[in-house]
Amino acid sequence: MLQDDQSRTQSTYGLQWNRYRIVRDDEDRATFRHRTGLSEDALAGKVVLDAGCGMGRYLRIAAGSPARLVVGIDLSRAVEAARDVTRGLPRVAIVRGDLLRPPFAAGGFDVIYSLGVLDHTPDPRRAFLELARLLRPGGVIAIWVYPRERRIVEAIMNAQRVVSTRLPLGVLEPLCRIAAPIGGLKRRLMASRWRPVERLGVALHLATIGVSMHPDPEVRVCDTLDWYAPRYLSRHTHAEVAGWFAEAGLVEVVDLGAGGSVFHEGQGIGINLSGRRPAGSSAR
Ligand SMILES: C[S@@+](CC[C@H](N)C(=O)[O-])C[C@H]1O[C@@H](n2cnc3c(N)ncnc32)[C@H](O)[C@@H]1O
Repeated sequence: MLQDDQSRTQSTYGLQWNRYRIVRDDEDRATFRHRTGLSEDALAGKVVLDAGCGMGRYLRIAAGSPARLVVGIDLSRAVEAARDVTRGLPRVAIVRGDLLRPPFAAGGFDVIYSLGVLDHTPDPRRAFLELARLLRPGGVIAIWVYPRERRIVEAIMNAQRVVSTRLPLGVLEPLCRIAAPIGGLKRRLMASRWRPVERLGVALHLATIGVSMHPDPEVRVCDTLDWYAPRYLSRHTHAEVAGWFAEAGLVEVVDLGAGGSVFHEGQGIGINLSGRRPAGSSAR
């Protein structure tokens, strides 16, 4: 049984990740390393969990490492795409399930990462604490969630999403396709050295805040849908997320997001922390 109403999460990501299998090897590898704080070699011999694996772009990177076992879990039919993109890789298992009630024993994983997922659950803090329980003593967890924005930006985002999250996906997805070129235009305007043009780009960006500016047009459509469609999309402060790590008793907390964009200018900068369960501690 699903906790809360996560049916829109299931329909959104079932559609999104099966229609847009946006494997981009260089970008995925760079993003994986930056947002987990781990190289593939650091996974050697480890049992790894990709919590909210979606269509498996980062699962694929971890599964290509010398890890002992890599497990991906996702709530939606995205697991079908994840199975396809990891086909042929040994030591990978994929499970459809809910992070709010993870179907795993406490203390079973050496490494857990969850990139852009907790903020799409109805209760990100609780989902995080559930994940932290799954870490063995000495194990590491890294998460990425959307950052809280200025009040005016939050108000614009919320107003747009009040409408977009109520649109049927069959209407919203074509709208995202139509809107995606605006992302390319914003990108060009905002890069202008002529200030009035740059300001025009900023104004256009505010008005179309969820329209992705990713340089790749297909990723742009996918990211735009990802922003306008899901019912749950919470944004968090560094202090709030650091509080979850403290509550879970994690130590050696590192701010992985401090370095800025990873792969291309303007790539989503979020709240991105990692931490370790102290060796010798017991699962809570
Ligand atoms: C923005 S996507 C990110 C996917 C992947 N981590 C990536 O970056 O490519 C969010 C994913 O979280 C999954 N998700 C949301 N709530 C979940 C839950 N309660 N349990 C498991 N997965 C969930 C969605 O199905 C979706 O595939």
